[in-house]
Amino acid sequence: MAPPFSCDTLWQFASLATMAGDGLGIVERGVVAAKGGRILYAGDAAQAPDFDAAETIDCAGRWITPGLIDCHTHLVHAGDRAGEWAMRLEGATYEEIARAGGGIVSTMRATREASEAALVASALPRLDALLGEGVTTVEIKSGYGLTVADELKMLRAARRLGKERVVRIATTLLGAHAVPPEHAGRADAYVELVCDEMIPAAIGLADAVDAFCEGIGFSPTQTDRVLAAARAAGLQTKLHAEQLSALHGASLAASHGALSADHLEHADEDDARAMAAAGTVAVLLPGAYYFMRETKRPPVTALRDHGVRIAIATDCNPGTSPTTSPLLMLNMAATLFGLTVTEALRGMTVNAAHALGLAHEIGTLEAGKACDLAIWDIAAPAELAYRIGFNPLHMRVKDGRCC
Ligand code: NIG
Ligand code: FE
Repeated sequence: MAPPFSCDTLWQFASLATMAGDGLGIVERGVVAAKGGRILYAGDAAQAPDFDAAETIDCAGRWITPGLIDCHTHLVHAGDRAGEWAMRLEGATYEEIARAGGGIVSTMRATREASEAALVASALPRLDALLGEGVTTVEIKSGYGLTVADELKMLRAARRLGKERVVRIATTLLGAHAVPPEHAGRADAYVELVCDEMIPAAIGLADAVDAFCEGIGFSPTQTDRVLAAARAAGLQTKLHAEQLSALHGASLAASHGALSADHLEHADEDDARAMAAAGTVAVLLPGAYYFMRETKRPPVTALRDHGVRIAIATDCNPGTSPTTSPLLMLNMAATLFGLTVTEALRGMTVNAAHALGLAHEIGTLEAGKACDLAIWDIAAPAELAYRIGFNPLHMRVKDGRCC
């Protein structure tokens, strides 16, 4: 008989949705073994080697998925915009509010006034809400500082959150989120500041660079300069594209080999084709679509037909998506955008990992990857997208540790 494999922890009597391959990767009677924070084995119990585990956990038939990945958030920010939302309910539009000095710029004012410690403190309850629904990796953007110092302050606060809680944080510099008031009418000069000062200063603090390519944000030409500067600095790129209008930002992102193009309500078949060719992930944000009462849906059929990976995220932000519920996003992705259960769940696991350039590390239950798990009190994976406002999380595991 072969000698047993030693491992730190063995989760047994579980069903698995590994997300390996093209579907959910279902294993009805599965086990997961972890050693040194990594998955040693995830699969059928009957085919598993004999494990000598320091700790054995009986999952009593619960389901294990990869820890959820929220790949697009603006979790770090000060203040809220409930007042603007009330104005929108009385007829003002998002663009009107933005052009009148509200919107992103109003959060910018509050964020500039906040200390790094205050930003961390105000983001923690939001982070805890995400973790409470099984999230083990969160992307956090800057973009409400809009000076070199304030953008770096936001990125440091985001990194700090990863020390305050057991979670992996990916940071993104979103200096080109809006033209700050001191540069009003001089957008090109601000873009120059982003390219020449902000991006170089963010090396080592930001994993990627993002921009808001939009009529009320930055033109495709300006966005192109930001993405080129990011690549020259050796940083990955992402883009807020086609949220409110069609500027082919998604195709531009693809031309830069961006990790993802996000929102995409106004994207078309050409964008989908370009994204597929570049391997750029489509990050859909149903919370923003819902909260903005959008009626134009992202081109899910074209994305599918061209084989673009689809990810789902909360877009947690005070202006367009004040949600901290990844499970609600799974439901909305299905009900509002017509995603299948498989697409929705892959969207917050394996495809979200691709949107962060971390697919080699996280997103599936496969040997060698980080042992990040979400263990659920459910009878089938569909329940994760089916329920509205109910949280069946039993336990979260990060790098092999229950937390
Ligand atoms: O993802 N679209 C731009 N950025 C955010 C909104 C930011 C805000 O309104 O504060 C978004 O929707
Ligand atoms: Fe966003």
